[in-house]
Amino acid sequence: MIRKNMKLLVTGGAGFIGSNFIRYVLNKYPQDQVINLDSLTYAGNLENLKDFENHPNYKFVKGDILNSELVAHIAVDCDIIVHFAAESHVDRSVLDPFSFVRTNVLGTHSLLEVARQLGNKRFHHVSTDEVFGSLSLEDENKAFHEETPYDPKSPYSSSKAASDHLVRAYYHTYGLPITISNCSNNYGPFQFPEKVIPLFITNLMEGKKVPLYGDGKNVRDWIHVDDHCEAVDLVIRGGRIGHTYCIGGDSEKSNYELTMAILQGMGFGEEMIEYVKDRPGHDRRYAVRSHKVQAELGWQPKMNFEQGIKQTIDWYANNGGWWQRIKSGDYKDYYEQWYNRK
Ligand code: NAD
Ligand code: DAU
Repeated sequence: MIRKNMKLLVTGGAGFIGSNFIRYVLNKYPQDQVINLDSLTYAGNLENLKDFENHPNYKFVKGDILNSELVAHIAVDCDIIVHFAAESHVDRSVLDPFSFVRTNVLGTHSLLEVARQLGNKRFHHVSTDEVFGSLSLEDENKAFHEETPYDPKSPYSSSKAASDHLVRAYYHTYGLPITISNCSNNYGPFQFPEKVIPLFITNLMEGKKVPLYGDGKNVRDWIHVDDHCEAVDLVIRGGRIGHTYCIGGDSEKSNYELTMAILQGMGFGEEMIEYVKDRPGHDRRYAVRSHKVQAELGWQPKMNFEQGIKQTIDWYANNGGWWQRIKSGDYKDYYEQWYNRK
């Protein structure tokens, strides 16, 4: 049954997917109320929801998910906690694993405890396909699904895997009414320009080359953020308690193919590619089978990749101020560390 008139506590709503999700919910369900709890790390940006700042049913609270007193205070009269907050960038997890363990593992655990102490609050955990590890390029027909064993490889994916296990443990041990979604690579408006698509688009807009890792043959399954938001919305309102839903874009591309699509979409040629040192432990291929969410909740990705990448390029072209402010901040320190890593 689809629930309406909900009060949602969304964590990480000032980030890429969380902000798109809040916009999606408030547009679709004008009666819903949303509290956005976000500590505004480097990736959190209130500009992402500037258009909702004065919306009567939207409230922003600056705070850490590990602050259980604060979380309990704001979650007490919410119907559900929708948990997006995380450290989300794989490369940063190579440089600084602890902040990933802190937020993704300890932070998720802290939220689960609060949800339990508030009398078993409904909890949805937004997770990733990276918990399943890596597929090979040779076995094209294989894809991740709800029964795939966990085999994470990076500090990021391991921290997300640990958090998924804790969420399930709270369901089995305490009966906490949870759902989990494991989604593939998102793209679209408001994505922080450290992730490959916005990094490459904005580099080209600045006249810079695009740094392609390794041999460029790694494959990702791209999904437009609006399609992910719709799937999460369906799961929180109609998903089965205790269940996991895998969400994929049905749009596998090698990084080389992706790069060529961006280059061609922006009128550049292959000479703008700079092949650089590979990411350590770089997962070769991700692909996700979304049969369960399709069969049970009627979800299908609506945006095809060609349209989606064009829309995304246009969005970055029309929102230069947004990404230029980010790129001129302490962003540069991170790249210095990343490219000078041992
Ligand atoms: P993001 O990095 O853009 O945003 C994360 C947000 O969480 C930021 O606003 C940040 O300020 C906030 N945050 C971080 N630590 C916090 C803390 N301790 N307390 C409160 N807020 C905190 O991330 P994203 O790409 O929007 O990803 C959101 C979620 O979706 C993550 O859980 C990620 O693992 C998952 N996910 C992402 C993708 C993807 O392709 N980006 C795919 C599948 C799943
Ligand atoms: O699969 C879902 C995951 O997708 C999410 O859980 C993560 O939060 C999200 O960041 C994303 O992880 P990836 O590591 O796949 O995304 P990223 O954009 O960092 O990289 C995509 C691919 O592009 C990957 O194979 C590495 C490559 N890449 C990335 C960067 C930043 C490059 O070749 N050059 C780059 O500069």
